[in-house]
Amino acid sequence: MVKRLMAAATSLVLAGSLAACGDDKPETSAASGSGGSGDSITMGFAQVGAESGWRTANTKSVQEAAKAAGIELKFSDAQQKQENQLKAIRSFIQQKVDVISFSPVVETGWDTVLMEAKRANIPVILTDRAVDSKDTTLYKSFLGSDFVLEGKKAGEWLVKQGDAADVNKDGSVKVVELQGTTGAAPAIDRKEGFEEAMKANPKIAIAASQTGDFTRDGGKKVMESFLKAQKDIDVVFAHNDDMGLGAIEAIEAAGKKPGKDIQIITIDAVKDGMTALAEGKINYIVECNPLLGPQLMDLAKKVVAKQDVPQRVLTEETAFDQAAAKAALASRQY
Ligand code: AHR
Repeated sequence: MVKRLMAAATSLVLAGSLAACGDDKPETSAASGSGGSGDSITMGFAQVGAESGWRTANTKSVQEAAKAAGIELKFSDAQQKQENQLKAIRSFIQQKVDVISFSPVVETGWDTVLMEAKRANIPVILTDRAVDSKDTTLYKSFLGSDFVLEGKKAGEWLVKQGDAADVNKDGSVKVVELQGTTGAAPAIDRKEGFEEAMKANPKIAIAASQTGDFTRDGGKKVMESFLKAQKDIDVVFAHNDDMGLGAIEAIEAAGKKPGKDIQIITIDAVKDGMTALAEGKINYIVECNPLLGPQLMDLAKKVVAKQDVPQRVLTEETAFDQAAAKAALASRQY
């Protein structure tokens, strides 16, 4: 009880200090913790933002799983800004939460704040995205996908298309790439995996590559500029569904047929992406599973109880072509 009262008081202090941070302040709210007893676990969760359908599903999964596990969740939305995540993590440390989890907006720049958490004896679990730190003792576990493998699967599918990938029949496969947020693990790794796989067919070349920040609007704007600057685009490789869906809008506005005049490969497999795939507007989607909440809460309980947990927990994923999307759509949860 005492702990809960103290947490509520520090939470108010936090709200005040964040309110002073101006327009870019992270949203922070205490979820209706169903923990009940005074010794329930409190988790501070610093989310990236709400940039995509994937992120919305991920947030829902974390919030629902915390409730089901009886974990009190202090949730912060960083609006895709590292500075906001840093503020949120420091406020969680001040509040003496039992465990901190976050999905880092970008890979670098976390060592100092992670060291502060370690000195305060608050365990950290990375979820979804990794940090680029040599000191792996700064966090207890990293739960999430293999982004390099996702990019590789996308590239391998394209290689397997052979001549069918050369939509314009000009002897080469011209790819434009819509990258995720600059410096984010999924943007770096998916690019790496895709480029590794495409080496198997020297006819495939990336003609242009630019960030669309993982948003639909970003994908649309970048695709509009690609369509103006580049002739005979065969393929769009978008680092997530949302940017691919934005690209579809740009391609249609340019009078072309997405999925036919220009093939589209994306990553995520959220419902909107799967619908476009089933409709023939996307050609292939590599799955990235956002439903990390239940596994995260299990890990949290274990690290708070000082039990050993694996340093890396990998998410299992598949991939969908148009026929598989039609079959899977009805039962898709997100
Ligand atoms: O980190 C996971 C990626 O972030 C998802 O692929 C993307 O949709 C999200 O914004």
